[in-house]
Amino acid sequence: MTKKINRRHVLTGAAAASAFGMASTLPTHFAIAGKAPIKIGILLPYSGTYAMLGNSITDAFRLRMVMAGDTMGGRPIEYSVIDSEMSVPKAPQNTNKLVTREKVDFIVGPVHSGIAQAMAKIIGRRTSPIMVVPNAGSNKVTGELCAPNIFRASFSNWQPAYPGGEVMANDGHQTAVTISWKYAAGIQMMDAGKSGFEKNGGTVLKQLYVPFPDVEFQALLSEIAALKPDAVFSFFSGGGAVKFVKDYAAAGLKQSIPLYGPGFLTEGVTEAQGEAAEGIKTTLHYSTELTNPTNVAFKAAYEKSTGRKANVFAVQGYDTASLLLQAAAVVGGDVEATDAVIHALENTSVPDSPRGPWKMSKAHNPIQDIYLRQVVGGRHKVLGVAAEALEDPATGCKLV
Ligand code: BEZ
Repeated sequence: MTKKINRRHVLTGAAAASAFGMASTLPTHFAIAGKAPIKIGILLPYSGTYAMLGNSITDAFRLRMVMAGDTMGGRPIEYSVIDSEMSVPKAPQNTNKLVTREKVDFIVGPVHSGIAQAMAKIIGRRTSPIMVVPNAGSNKVTGELCAPNIFRASFSNWQPAYPGGEVMANDGHQTAVTISWKYAAGIQMMDAGKSGFEKNGGTVLKQLYVPFPDVEFQALLSEIAALKPDAVFSFFSGGGAVKFVKDYAAAGLKQSIPLYGPGFLTEGVTEAQGEAAEGIKTTLHYSTELTNPTNVAFKAAYEKSTGRKANVFAVQGYDTASLLLQAAAVVGGDVEATDAVIHALENTSVPDSPRGPWKMSKAHNPIQDIYLRQVVGGRHKVLGVAAEALEDPATGCKLV
């Protein structure tokens, strides 16, 4: 068995377990017997409100690796997987486990911005392992905490949110209220949306927050009704987004005060949100409705291997694996040559991503298009490109 799964900490998610189970059955392992495995540590949520995100990333990451013969640069792959439980206090211990006990070459994770910041403080002080973030958008991770060995394959919180604020103003709204979870991702996205809105003539009346991952929205929905803004801008994701969008409609606000936000608000959950999601406009670096050939093939392969529809989290997992494969190929499998791997990752462009082509910024964050989408018939119809080849400002990053 080339895979190594830390069962004490992981794999509460059946999808994750089956995804990693695939590794041991592939014939390619025999062909490369004798070569030392490349070790990948995975720190993602498989329980709680972000479980869908962690499972989507994991399954698509594994899909990409299996498509590549389950080898990197001609070497087998060994995984150590930890359920982050979305716990910021446990993040240092979990990270140190992967770094010092499992001695991984790469860390893939996390989903949650607070955990990403805790991990970056540990990883960024070292020369290895190399961390590739497959979701968490914390601006700081590719800003003041940026480091040579930290890369992101997803987005910064600023990237989908700032154009969302611009869209809201361009739609003619003059006042807005923001509402989100009170933690790094929610605060950074709401501030970016506010800034995009106000730079285009709008005024944010109030910024409302609930603690993460609470889903008791009634008091704040009553406050929104009393404030009577023209529009509401919001970040929730996963299970919390299902509850918020349904509660918003049930409170009678959907018809009178249109809801906007970064695309996480409806991504991967439109089926569960049902009618309540119809008409919501969001901005994101992906839509399942993109017609590029890679996306068409990716969606079919993902659906075939998981029985579930693709979403942005899956795309980010897929692209994370593509990055690692590219870098390992450039160094001929010698991933211990960290400087050469970093150099390869820095010079990566991903011309064939399901989201459309993107490349790595100097701060190690994707430069990518942000699409304007609207939920129509349960799908994310693409209305246009809200921001072309958008690069995060990377405030405070010394690599830039
Ligand atoms: C974050 O914490 O960075 C995050 C979580 C879910 C969706 C998007 C961002």
